[in-house]
Amino acid sequence: QPQLHYRNQSLYLEDCRLADLAREHGTPLYVYSTASMLEALAAYRRGFAGRRVQICYAMKANPSLAVLQLFAREGCGFDIVSGGELARVLAAGGDPARVIFSGVGKTRAEMRQALEAGIGCFNVESEAELEVLSEVASAMSLRAPVSIRVNPNVDARTHPYISTGLKGNKFGIAHERTLATYQRAAALPGLRVVGIDCHIGSQITEKTPFLDALERMLDLVAAIEAAGIAIHHIDLGGGLGINYNGDEPPAADALWARLLERLDARGYGDRRLMIEPGRSLVGNAGVCLTEVLYCKPGEQKNFCIVDAAMNDLPRPAMYQAYHAIVPLEDRAEGREPVVYDVVGPVCESGDWLGRDRSLAVQPGELLAVLSAGAYCSAMGSTYNSRARPPEVLVSGSAAQLVRTRESVSDLFRNERLPGNNA
Ligand code: LLP
Repeated sequence: QPQLHYRNQSLYLEDCRLADLAREHGTPLYVYSTASMLEALAAYRRGFAGRRVQICYAMKANPSLAVLQLFAREGCGFDIVSGGELARVLAAGGDPARVIFSGVGKTRAEMRQALEAGIGCFNVESEAELEVLSEVASAMSLRAPVSIRVNPNVDARTHPYISTGLKGNKFGIAHERTLATYQRAAALPGLRVVGIDCHIGSQITEKTPFLDALERMLDLVAAIEAAGIAIHHIDLGGGLGINYNGDEPPAADALWARLLERLDARGYGDRRLMIEPGRSLVGNAGVCLTEVLYCKPGEQKNFCIVDAAMNDLPRPAMYQAYHAIVPLEDRAEGREPVVYDVVGPVCESGDWLGRDRSLAVQPGELLAVLSAGAYCSAMGSTYNSRARPPEVLVSGSAAQLVRTRESVSDLFRNERLPGNNA
């Protein structure tokens, strides 16, 4: 993980000592590095130098207003999937004209909200949605800019829950239906066709699925344009993986060098491009800090019980995902490491953060769960009435609290005791 290093046996993110942040704000605590996010963005920009490209950060990965503000200031757009995400973009100062709206289940109210805000494009996922969007836009005397999400039927070879480009999942329109769907879109009064998009999955660590998807998309662009419908932009979605545990995804610039080569070879080199990266911009910019509560030796397993749990960081419980776990102070010298399952206080056997980890720790000491910038805080819940952790954004030696710790009374603020309405 870039920007993360030990100095005098103490773990730092940029120039901030993580143990100091944990002491100041308590644990569990999320900490994100500005420099890591900017570096990740720079890799895409290098790959796209001299091209017409809009990077739309897939904010579901980490919707913190502070993170959105950072990308908005860098000129990024946003890929959103709900009216709530649109509200966040606007609250963070994002440009609605650079927003694209994905998702299979947009409501009429969300469509109206997005049209009022003047978003750049609706990525439509079904024929039924096209009809509804046209109706909603017509009623507002508007024409909604649309792109149709195509399911290119390529195997991203990633976890089945996060693979989205194969036949048989709920996303996009089948390759064979694409032309007919574009013809319908072009005929509807409330729509204006502007592009085509796809997204084949997440945590993809090879170039081939992206190249295959591109080829299939270009075949479709050729067919649609031959039918007289202009495609102004091609959106290739997100999905580039990060290194969690020795994974070796291509660098963004290396991947895009190959994709642009194919685009040029097929005569589409000057076409406007869009991408929707999420994880690859933020995943390795974050850590989750947690305190060891108890060490519990067992006959079959030793447990290291920490104060962060599956509600704070659900990826291990949900996907058996691997996140490296390291001590904030390296005290291994003179201690015998023990192999632990690192688990949280939630009352589920699935509540674990790491399995079979060799650690030399004692209660009261602090650990960092790494690669926790994407889909960690974002997917957190308050299960077991556990309030959400605070978040800190660091830049050099400056650290700013960008989300305070939720209070327990926040959790039941909207609840009422029945029978006490008088
Ligand atoms: N565009 C669309 C339409 C998407 O559905 C997604 C992610 C992205 C872009 C961004 O993909 P990324 O660049 O982050 O791979 N919770 C799972 C990942 C779910 C991804 C959902 N869609 C996880 O923790 O691994």
